[in-house]
Amino acid sequence: MSQLDHRQVIAIDGPAAAGKSTVARLLADRIGAMLFDTGALYRAVTLAAARAGISPGDGQALAGLTRRLRIEIAPASIDDGRQVDVLLDGEDVTWAIRTADIDARVSEVSAHPAVRDALLDAQRSITGGVKVVMVGRDIGTVVIPQAGAKIYLKASAAERARRRLAELQGRCIEATFEQVLDDLNARDAYDSSRETAPLAAANDAIVVDTDNRPVEEIVNEIQRIAEAAWRQAGVTGE
Ligand code: DC
Repeated sequence: MSQLDHRQVIAIDGPAAAGKSTVARLLADRIGAMLFDTGALYRAVTLAAARAGISPGDGQALAGLTRRLRIEIAPASIDDGRQVDVLLDGEDVTWAIRTADIDARVSEVSAHPAVRDALLDAQRSITGGVKVVMVGRDIGTVVIPQAGAKIYLKASAAERARRRLAELQGRCIEATFEQVLDDLNARDAYDSSRETAPLAAANDAIVVDTDNRPVEEIVNEIQRIAEAAWRQAGVTGE
């Protein structure tokens, strides 16, 4: 299979619970693109480290572990609300990587430059002639700076906490609004202030505010932006 033309990538970055995954799923389905949620990679490493008893502060051990792991992201095989399947050395860890415990550890794990470095190739070497919607924190700035369209999704902290709380309740996980808000704020502060590839909008990203806007409208806007960029660059997606 041929290497992906990076201009076929729509990069969607932004803070936790800004609506990235929901918007990306709808957009990918609509335009027949693949969805690649890069946060799942960092979450899978965090889960494997917790199981192996490796501290989130031990960058060297974490990087060694990351290089040994086989993390796969595949189309959802079960209709249980998942966006994709996440497999860790063949095991389905789709929901195991979405617990409060992983939320609390993942920022520290993902801040290590050696861990990020070990995951870079997996993110850049997608193959095939398909379009890809990539979701993360540093896709437009570091991972795929040649992306055809770069979007930075933002939403107020209160709105993001409401969304995350509703998502947790949908999975029967108990939490209070204050807890969720504190957790999101802590994670965003950590992700934004790390030295390597911090959460940031690329200079040429288009910032899209999702507060009080229906999701369909946001998807339409991003689709328009991407299609205009592709037309201008002569990218066909075949
Ligand atoms: O998008 P998410 O909540 O699943 O991401 C989990 C963590 O992974 C996030 O707090 C920071 C890290 N992450 C990252 O550093 N770079 C990315 N491209 C994606 C996620």
